[in-house]
Amino acid sequence: MAKKAIILGIETSCDETAVSLIQDEDSGIPRILSNVISSQFDIHKEFGGVVPELAARSHVEKIDLIAKKAIEESGVSLDKVSAIAATSGPGLIICLTVGLNFGKAMASSLNVPFIGVNHLEGHALSPKLHSKIDYPYLLLLISGGHSQYLSVNGLGNYKRLGTTIDDALGEAFDKTAKLLGIEFPGGPNLEKFAKNGDPNKFKLPKPIINKGGCNLSFAGLKTAILRITKTISSQQEKFDLAASFQKTIEEILYKKTKIAFQEFNKINPESNNNIVVAGGVAANEGIRKILIKVSKENGFNTLFPDLKLCGDNGAMIAMVGLEKYKIKKFDNLDLPVSPRLPLDNDAKFLKGAGVKL
Ligand code: KG4
Ligand code: ZN
Repeated sequence: MAKKAIILGIETSCDETAVSLIQDEDSGIPRILSNVISSQFDIHKEFGGVVPELAARSHVEKIDLIAKKAIEESGVSLDKVSAIAATSGPGLIICLTVGLNFGKAMASSLNVPFIGVNHLEGHALSPKLHSKIDYPYLLLLISGGHSQYLSVNGLGNYKRLGTTIDDALGEAFDKTAKLLGIEFPGGPNLEKFAKNGDPNKFKLPKPIINKGGCNLSFAGLKTAILRITKTISSQQEKFDLAASFQKTIEEILYKKTKIAFQEFNKINPESNNNIVVAGGVAANEGIRKILIKVSKENGFNTLFPDLKLCGDNGAMIAMVGLEKYKIKKFDNLDLPVSPRLPLDNDAKFLKGAGVKL
């Protein structure tokens, strides 16, 4: 019987130090042998956002311990590892450098191939860790640095259909949370906070809702929140504002996803009509519900990564590593970090479209 490939994936692009080992399986769905994630919430909490220097220092301090833990939990000895995959971009340059160099050193000492991975491709393929999905599929990538609709045509083959023209959706959640005095990490805490409020209390703008195809815009929404926060004082009003924000986001995604379906179908008339929703914000329960609703209404099947695989993790990096390993797409040890690394190289540059700002 042929040896099953085992890939070790490393992720350090922002504020998670993560290492995972996955094993190829005949079913086409790999087995996650371990998936160790160390978040830095406590380090960045007092600053209300990620501080790059502190993040990088923490990666340096922890990466070997996290890797050791992931290897121990997997029950695999190092000589069984087929290749090392590490995020090469996009992300914070000093954070990326830690994981990439660690990965290169491991690959070199184990004498196995080294594979650089686009972090966004990790999110894009993350549902493949538990479901079989054929190409092409529509991807809605919503994270702290990116918000895009893409047609995923194959490994490394993406066509961007729409993108944010200003803030990313996770960024809009985080900034709104900060304005409401909600503790870091803003996104998930705002979602809980909003459950106490009346979503119909405040009418918020929906920028470019009737123009720009499936492009997105959230900056105007944040400005409106800033204005309203200056006029409210009670806790209940804060709950109501958070709930209204959550509802407005759901309405924007409902409308824009409908347009994205049409654009996707135009270029892929024969597809199986699958939409993958990935990235940290894909963990949001209300967003999940509305996307399932709009998908059903338009004949699409919705796939989300498991909750543990929505945020940054090493398994999604190993997943891309495994697909690249199968076609022997390896990198040299002089592969540089790429703080800007879009999925669709031909797409026009728009601020916020492929950059962690
Ligand atoms: O994909 P991710 O872990 O890191 C990036 O690649 O950016 O996404 C992090 C983003 C943050 O902005 C965080 O606030 C947001 O995802 N997020 C959420 C939720 N969980 C994480 N936003 C809204 N609701 C959530 N439940
Ligand atoms: Zn991410």
